[in-house]
Amino acid sequence: MSLTDRLLLIGAVALLLFGIVLLFSYDIIKIDWISFMEIQPSYKPMENPLPVPALSVPIEGAAYIPGMGAPVNPIPADEISLARGAQLYNIHCSHCHGLTGQGDGPIAPFLEKRKPANLTSDVVQNKSDGALFLVISNGVPGSMPALNENLTVRDRWDVVNYIRTLKP
Ligand code: HEC
Repeated sequence: MSLTDRLLLIGAVALLLFGIVLLFSYDIIKIDWISFMEIQPSYKPMENPLPVPALSVPIEGAAYIPGMGAPVNPIPADEISLARGAQLYNIHCSHCHGLTGQGDGPIAPFLEKRKPANLTSDVVQNKSDGALFLVISNGVPGSMPALNENLTVRDRWDVVNYIRTLKP
C-alpha cells in the first residue's frame, strides 16, 4: 500500500467516524440553521392574545365594559336561545358541572383544589345574568377556565339563559 493510499484510507475512516458521531449528537450539538420560514411576522400558537387593533369595531358589540359592573342580558330566553344554550352547555360546561348542573361532571373528581360549583344552588341562581356572563367570560382564577375564546357573546348569553332552567 502506498503512502497516499494509506492516507486516503485513514481519511475515509476518520470521515466515517465523524459522520457516525454527528448522527448520534445531532440532538446535542444544535447548529442554528438560518430558517427563512421562521423570520416572518406570523402569529405562533400559544402566544399571548394580540391586543385589539386601534380603531377596530367589535362586530358583536362590546361584550361588556370593564369597570361598569355586570352587563344586562340582551337575549330573551326563548325556545331557540334555550336550545342553543343546552347544546353549548353540554359541550363546554357539562364535563365539569355535570349534565344537570350539580357539579358532578366526569372531570370533577380530578379537580383537586376547587370542585365545580353546583349551578342549581341558590348561591349561583341568585347571581344576576350579567354576573354569570362574567364568570363564563373570565372564568374563576385558579379554578375555572375563561371561556370567552370558546363561546361568542351570543353563545354565552344562551348558556346563561339555559343555566336558569337548571333549578332543581
Ligand atoms: C374545567 C372545569 C370547568 C369548566 C369547563 C367550567 N367550569 Fe364553571 N366552575 C368550575 C369550578 C372548579 C368552579 C368553582 C370555582 C370556585 O369555587 O372557586 C366553577 C364555578 C362556576 C360558577 C360559579 C361561580 C361563582 O362565582 O360562584 C358558574 C356560574 C360556572 N362555573 C359556570 C360555568 C359555565 C356556564 C361553564 C360552561 C360555559 C363552565 N362553568 C365551565 C369548573 C369549570
